[in-house]
Amino acid sequence: MKIEKSMKRRLRTSNCYYYAAVKPFLRWAGGKSKIVRFLAAFLPPWNSYARYFEPFVGAGALFFFIGPREAVLSDLNEDLINCYRQVARCPVEVCNLLQVPRELDCKEYYYHIRSRDPEKLKPIDRAARFIYLNKAAFNGIYRVNQQGKFNVPYGPSVNGPALPKESLLEAVSNLLKRAKLLVADYRKVCELARRGDFVYLDPPYPPTNGTAYFTHYTADRFSWSDQEEVSKVFRDLDRRGCLVMMSNSDREEIRSMFQGYYMQRLNVIRWVGSNGNRFRARELVVTNYSPHELRCGGLIEYEDRL
Ligand SMILES: C[S@@+](CC[C@H](N)C(=O)[O-])C[C@H]1O[C@@H](n2cnc3c(N)ncnc32)[C@H](O)[C@@H]1O
Repeated sequence: MKIEKSMKRRLRTSNCYYYAAVKPFLRWAGGKSKIVRFLAAFLPPWNSYARYFEPFVGAGALFFFIGPREAVLSDLNEDLINCYRQVARCPVEVCNLLQVPRELDCKEYYYHIRSRDPEKLKPIDRAARFIYLNKAAFNGIYRVNQQGKFNVPYGPSVNGPALPKESLLEAVSNLLKRAKLLVADYRKVCELARRGDFVYLDPPYPPTNGTAYFTHYTADRFSWSDQEEVSKVFRDLDRRGCLVMMSNSDREEIRSMFQGYYMQRLNVIRWVGSNGNRFRARELVVTNYSPHELRCGGLIEYEDRL
């Protein structure tokens, strides 16, 4: 994903007091690491909410960028949440387990590790397997078949897989220790949010240009009626007094589901499909608060963390 020049200008002029706490250590289709600084322009001030919720956490680009004091992170992907739990608990041990793939990475090793049943592994070995596959798989895609089995082919790279260093995993661990980590459907987790909490929703996007690429994180696919459901959850959180922000793709169908809320468009260029076709995809950011008023209207003071 490439940030357009106009967005770079916008970043320079935006009154953004957030800073990147830690880089995400996983690659994730639909992950927000490349645009997180632009999303930051629409965040509520850091000290204006109680807890941070990210119920479609994936690689957690925004969570790691903000570094909130208290968080609830969740995803339906059990392997992912197990990985976060293990890194939070024992980052050094996880890093030590990555030493073997660091030295042995090759096609045969990849398929050997891929063929192991994660459910039969100890949680810490399962976490190391997950990180290795995430870094060595083609394009870092996480995709499972209808039986829930990881089925991405090996993606050789010149310098081998970029496995995370101990210092990064330790920094990640410190942030994850402040979070409750749950394997759960986003609806259940959103029920836990209370007045004054901030919820960031980043659901799988609707398919674009005939590809359902971004919808394969779990064995269940994310459909248009699921998008409708997300908008109902958004409205419910709003009614209950939470601050809510959602990312999605800028499509008429999505806009009409969120009528009445603040909508901002981000222009980004995204690469999709295995044949490398490049097309312009527009990102939509929906909030139930005016980012401008929160920042400039004196409703809530920013805490300067720079
Ligand atoms: C667009 S990705 C999130 C990317 C993330 N914000 C990042 O920066 O990496 C969507 C995530 O939603 C998860 N997911 C899909 N259906 C879900 C559901 N019903 N409840 C919770 N998580 C779900 C997927 O496993 C995937 O990790």
